[in-house]
Amino acid sequence: MRYRAPGRVNLIGEHTDYNDGFVMPVAIDRDTTVAMTPRDDGLLVVRSAAYPDVVTIDLDRPGHGPKGAWSEYVRGVAAVLERQGWRLKGADMTITTDVPMSAGLSSSAALEVAVGYGLLDQAGHAIDRTRLALACQAAEHEFAGTRCGVMDQFIACHGRAGHALMLDTRTLDMAWLPVPPGIAVIVCNTMTKHVLATDGYNERRADCEAGVRALAIRLPGIRALRDVTLDDLEANRDVLPDRVFRRCRHVVTENARVKAAAEALQAGDLDAVGELMRASHASTRDDFEISTPEVDVMVDSALHADGTIGARMTGGGFGGCTVNLVRTDQAVPFAAGVRARYEAATGRVPEIYTCVASDGAGRSDP
Ligand code: GLA
Repeated sequence: MRYRAPGRVNLIGEHTDYNDGFVMPVAIDRDTTVAMTPRDDGLLVVRSAAYPDVVTIDLDRPGHGPKGAWSEYVRGVAAVLERQGWRLKGADMTITTDVPMSAGLSSSAALEVAVGYGLLDQAGHAIDRTRLALACQAAEHEFAGTRCGVMDQFIACHGRAGHALMLDTRTLDMAWLPVPPGIAVIVCNTMTKHVLATDGYNERRADCEAGVRALAIRLPGIRALRDVTLDDLEANRDVLPDRVFRRCRHVVTENARVKAAAEALQAGDLDAVGELMRASHASTRDDFEISTPEVDVMVDSALHADGTIGARMTGGGFGGCTVNLVRTDQAVPFAAGVRARYEAATGRVPEIYTCVASDGAGRSDP
């Protein structure tokens, strides 16, 4: 049996998910696939087309492997699911993917969710997509060392063809918003490395948490930046170091932008969506400081290209991709314009993917 889970691109709502905030990802038509053949010895024997090593994981004693190894995602998901009470079965597993890796398109969540879905299905368990997403997030925390939010695993589980997912990461309320007709979601890859598991991501999260601790002395009702308004934040600026203030301002304003973008998308007000994406990019660049020169050039190139509605960095930051909403009938000149401008400015050849909003994880056709 084969199982698949998609990568994702986030339209708006960056670094809001671990602050109990709002996100708006789209599952893309690029998948990680796991082919599984049952074994009766309780072992997972795992191969990946992308790496030469073959890794054996004992479901009774999953342990830990080398830090940073690709197989830690597989081991982590198996270990967390077992610990949560799902008895799993051994299998030979072969992993393939066309999700670009280290590009901010959630290749790791696609791997986790494809593996988790397959392990549960193969053992005869009904799939609860939300519990699967949360188990995969826990695996990422424990086995990859990234204190990620739940967005990536959630969209890999709950993606819906033709739709973006508006997710409240506190209540886990979900609304699927149709991608408007005539609009393409185009991802531009700077081909510069995104190092999610490194300190930058966890440092941003720590800054946000430090902000909440300091603000809670004045605002005792708050649990997360989700609960803080911009007025509250500004009125209490004196309790925050400047860097922490700016990190918090990004999150607080970004939450407001996601909600406004959801309304604008539903109202068909694409100019407003574009303006919100532009403001989001400026905030991630200036307040959250997770953009890079290449990413800024890519956004700027899009804003000069034909057919652009909105453009911004997407994902954890520190390189990787931008997300662009583009009029479908201008997708070809858009790509040509962005490519030429980015290449002239950076000397790098970008990759450009026109994406189709796709379904979340499932069995895959043979
Ligand atoms: C990574 C994390 C997500 C989210 C984004 C930033 O993709 O895995 O949980 O925090 O970064 O929005």
